[in-house]
Amino acid sequence: MHAETLRSVVILGSTGSVGTQALDVIAANPGGFRVAALAAGGGRVDLLARQAAEFGVEAVAVADASAVPALREALEAHGVKPVVLGGPDGVAEVAGWECDMVLNGITGALGLASTLVALKAGRLLALANKESLIIGGPLVKRLAAPGQILPVDSEHSALQQCLWAAGPDGHDPSRVRQLVVTASGGPFRGMKREEMADVTPEMALAHPTWSMGPYITVNSATLVNKGLEVIEAHLLFDLPFDRIEVVVHPQSIIHSMVEYVDGSTIAQASPPDMRLPIALALAHPRRVAGAARPIDWTKAHTWTFEPLDDVAFPAVALARHVGGEGGTAPAVYNAANEVCLDAFLRGDLPFLGIVDTVAKVVEEHQVTPAGSVEEVLAADAWARARAAELTAGQSR
Ligand SMILES: NC(=O)c1ccc[n+]([C@@H]2O[C@H](COP(=O)([O-])OP(=O)(O)OC[C@H]3O[C@@H](n4cnc5c(N)ncnc54)[C@H](OP(=O)(O)O)[C@@H]3O)[C@@H](O)[C@H]2O)c1
Repeated sequence: MHAETLRSVVILGSTGSVGTQALDVIAANPGGFRVAALAAGGGRVDLLARQAAEFGVEAVAVADASAVPALREALEAHGVKPVVLGGPDGVAEVAGWECDMVLNGITGALGLASTLVALKAGRLLALANKESLIIGGPLVKRLAAPGQILPVDSEHSALQQCLWAAGPDGHDPSRVRQLVVTASGGPFRGMKREEMADVTPEMALAHPTWSMGPYITVNSATLVNKGLEVIEAHLLFDLPFDRIEVVVHPQSIIHSMVEYVDGSTIAQASPPDMRLPIALALAHPRRVAGAARPIDWTKAHTWTFEPLDDVAFPAVALARHVGGEGGTAPAVYNAANEVCLDAFLRGDLPFLGIVDTVAKVVEEHQVTPAGSVEEVLAADAWARARAAELTAGQSR
């Protein structure tokens, strides 16, 4: 980054996997960014206070208002006195804080309010919280100006880079035959459905190539994350679902590809490291030197690709179905999954029960257009309640 491009940034979810890596990128580029404010859930106030002191932020918020006293104490111990805000309204205030860009690294549907606030305030939005785009699809798209949302997900960052790389035709959807989203396949790649009956949370949390927060890690094991990413790609790049392919690529080096009408495919390759797509979103449209380690071309490499087994991993097909239905259907898919995921992590639901239960909830749902936040939140609440009923009493 060059000093004249100094960009002020608000980081939401600063104590999480994406948030801490975003702050790593910023710390490594002191002339490039200024951190205006931070927000987190409230589970790690010491880390949050340390971040606030290190980056000299103006404001800090925690979603859990009961964590405010401990946060104040920790801030005092670090000798800083930023504005302290608590509760969901406090997080929303930070999402609208004066800045150039908001990075939304909150996990789950809870990130929707912040996405909407940041877009309404006219900020550039570096979006890791894919759930907010997916559940609030029509609302988020209506609010977002062209180019206002910058994808942080490595696959969508890759797709965007492949579109840029294609020159003038990259911006013309009629010249794109299909988007090809890669998937590592997760820890259970190659297994048949019945072989996954006894999967434990420990097994599901051991991702072979990426180190991420617990929700997205389990979502990668069920392939729900890939399903969410297919919907995200549809919403970000305006291509129909039958032109978004998923291919399993266990090495996680090719992060996605764009196939053009002339038969040419452009791919983006780099070792799996979220600091690259995070840096690209933060510094957009510039590239940050040294953001991540490149591929070592002096070594031998083997990159393999295989089709997705939709029978063992039905989450992607289900996502295509809800994405095609549109309206409140994706919100229901996501909300039911979040409840099932918590139940699985508590040991109250078998691994295979996650997607099976989501499918049942999706099937029962009466889709409506998702024309307002209230409508989306009502569908989200209904799906959570129904998934909780269906998962009650099940155990591994
Ligand atoms: N991790 C990755 O490599 C990766 C890659 C691609 C996309 N993503 C997406 O990025 C998002 C974040 O994932 P992650 O892996 O970084 O999750 P994570 O490690 O679980 O971190 C979540 C962050 O959100 C904060 N948080 C929770 N509830 C909040 C609320 N109501 N308001 C404000 N902050 C809240 C947490 O604070 P506490 O610490 O206080 O709980 C934490 O800072 C997800 O949507 C995920 O799908 C992640």
